[in-house]
Amino acid sequence: MSRGPHSAEYTARMRKSARIAPSILAADFARLGDEIRTVEPVVDLLHIDVMDGHFVPNVSLGFPVIKSIRCVTDLPFDCHMMTTNPDAYFEPLREAGGDLVTVHLEVFPDPVAVAARAREAGLRFGLVLNPPTPYEAVEPYIELCDMVVIMSVHAGFGGQSFMTETMSKLERVRKYVDSAGLTTDIEVDGGIDVTTIRSAREAGADVFVAGTSIFREPSPVAAVESLRAAIGQ
Ligand code: DX5
Ligand code: ZN
Repeated sequence: MSRGPHSAEYTARMRKSARIAPSILAADFARLGDEIRTVEPVVDLLHIDVMDGHFVPNVSLGFPVIKSIRCVTDLPFDCHMMTTNPDAYFEPLREAGGDLVTVHLEVFPDPVAVAARAREAGLRFGLVLNPPTPYEAVEPYIELCDMVVIMSVHAGFGGQSFMTETMSKLERVRKYVDSAGLTTDIEVDGGIDVTTIRSAREAGADVFVAGTSIFREPSPVAAVESLRAAIGQ
């Protein structure tokens, strides 16, 4: 099958322009409002990693922080719940300013009810797959989702190395989305920098989470521009 710039596959993949979602996990929390205001003009949504010390061996931030930063930006909040019972907190998350909630398929192998609960709370809904979770586990549920997130590192920590082997799973999600005529966003999360973003784009991602490669750079704005340049956007 042709994969060149005139193929149907290429056209479908390029239909949605790339969006950058900086992960505040890598920001300086003492200056969080300033960090967000700095990148706001050049990014598309804000990725917020919530960790509970149970689903992942790390604790990050919760609703008071989300509520505080809601006052400094109008960016949509993409809330990645690395917790064992995220569904107990959908209303507080929405009240704090969350727009989209993503939960792990490893926590909800049958996510039909949790998707409905998220929507009842006024949130958009997505599913996240850790690296060992196979494509087949998500396929029946892709149509439930506003977003599917392929972890390109093991969830839990920023600053890890990109796992190229997760891209074949991302390609399969892209193929399903396009062949079913869906508009589902496909996000890649973990280890995205100027050297890895291109392979994630080629695999079919349209939303790119990046923490370390944005907030740990001397100029976060220039870092975002470099990420876009690396995929010709
Ligand atoms: C990891 C988080 C990621 C993380 C990405 O558990 O889900 O969102 O912040 O950080 P980098 O871009 O540093 O890999
Ligand atoms: Zn994340």
